[in-house]
Amino acid sequence: WYGREKRDLPWRRRVEEETNLDRRAYAVWVSEVMLQQTQVATVINYYTRWMQKWPTLQDLASASLEEVNQLWSGLGYYSRGRRLQEGARKVVEELGGHMPRTAETLQQLLPGVGRYTAGAIASIAFGQAAGVVDGNVLRVLCRVRAIGADPSSSLVSHHLWHLAQQLVDPAQPGDFNQAAMELGATVCTPQRPLCSHCPVQSLCRAHQRVEWEQLTDSQSLPGSPDVEECALNTEQCQLCPPPTNPWDPNLGVTNFPRKASRQPPREECSAICVLERPGAVGGARILLVQRPNSGLLAGLWEFPSVASESSEQQQHKVLLQELQSWAGPVPASRLRHLGEVIHTFSHIRLTYQVYGLALERKTPVTTAPPGARWLTREEFHNAAVSTAMKKVFRMYEDHQRGTGRDSKRSRVSTPSNRKKPSKGQQVLDSFFGPRIPTDTPNPNSVAQ
Ligand code: ADE
Ligand code: SF4
Repeated sequence: WYGREKRDLPWRRRVEEETNLDRRAYAVWVSEVMLQQTQVATVINYYTRWMQKWPTLQDLASASLEEVNQLWSGLGYYSRGRRLQEGARKVVEELGGHMPRTAETLQQLLPGVGRYTAGAIASIAFGQAAGVVDGNVLRVLCRVRAIGADPSSSLVSHHLWHLAQQLVDPAQPGDFNQAAMELGATVCTPQRPLCSHCPVQSLCRAHQRVEWEQLTDSQSLPGSPDVEECALNTEQCQLCPPPTNPWDPNLGVTNFPRKASRQPPREECSAICVLERPGAVGGARILLVQRPNSGLLAGLWEFPSVASESSEQQQHKVLLQELQSWAGPVPASRLRHLGEVIHTFSHIRLTYQVYGLALERKTPVTTAPPGARWLTREEFHNAAVSTAMKKVFRMYEDHQRGTGRDSKRSRVSTPSNRKKPSKGQQVLDSFFGPRIPTDTPNPNSVAQ
């Protein structure tokens, strides 16, 4: 099935064409790290640009965090890129440029490489018979084996890894693992799985259960027969759905896996300001400051911000102080509240109160202190910034257009007609395409 159906993806091509094991493992490593929390369709572009920029471990080892964050911009979970770079440096500096050759040593020696990534590299690049469980495989296995207990419990997780290890085909472990992922991504999808096109339908207990339910339903047998699906058929089977989660006929096979009880993300608020100054050469510039090199969003650039204050008045005051600490005196009267941007980073739901402050030509500006930069729009779009900052900036730009001189243009991208990509959106999107060097005017950009 996989041989017939597999998608032609850039990392698969590389593995097929590359004979050098270290290069092969590197190509898989990059793809698996990118794919961990991001969809295939999004990853393709980033992967291609990454491999063009750093075709070997040695190239990546000499990259800076700034460059890595720049390329990673918009992909989220930025520590992934940083750890990949740290890992490459370790391989080059401490392991003679050679990747560890087994799942166990990969996990042991490389920062950020967990059980999944280690197994994926070992099986896909080296042909080691290591089973892997990612989100897609978890869903497939829970359905095929009708595992209805909480998949995040250590017991179920242990069982799934054990199953994956038993099932992996030693003759072609990389293909087997990717087939399981592919099945989860394309057929056994979270909603509306395509059971009638599924190569493992005849083995699938979730599917059998649905058929059995339909059969008993159509024969209108009285009541719901209490037949234990579990092969162990013991009352305390820890893999079966708990009594609190009985079979829901509306869900069909998607009764499995059971929804993991997720912690709601932590709520945080902050006030953030786009500070813009007019400029002759290269146009206006906006102020960005750099986050510390460790912790959340390490080394990324963002607009000056402060933790949210209780009163709006207090918020203005603290935000202005922050702006002044980077840019010298700024006129408080020009500070405008523009709206709210909500962005979820891994486990934090952050609400930004977005402000804008456009300086007048006469306002003197000091040069930016270390840790701050005045960027042109072009530079901003190519900078190491998170998606949240792009959202904040878009709000600022929408506002500028809406109230600016060129009111015809403003209608292009008011929030209400945003269903179709606005010009601003197209410009943002165009920056996810091939890189253009900063400092070079981008022919696609919209002059403001
Ligand atoms: N998701 C995680 N790894 C993958 C791979 N190698 N191919 C497709 N999807 C994936
Ligand atoms: Fe998933 Fe349906 Fe295939 Fe079972 S038969 S593995 S539920 S797609």
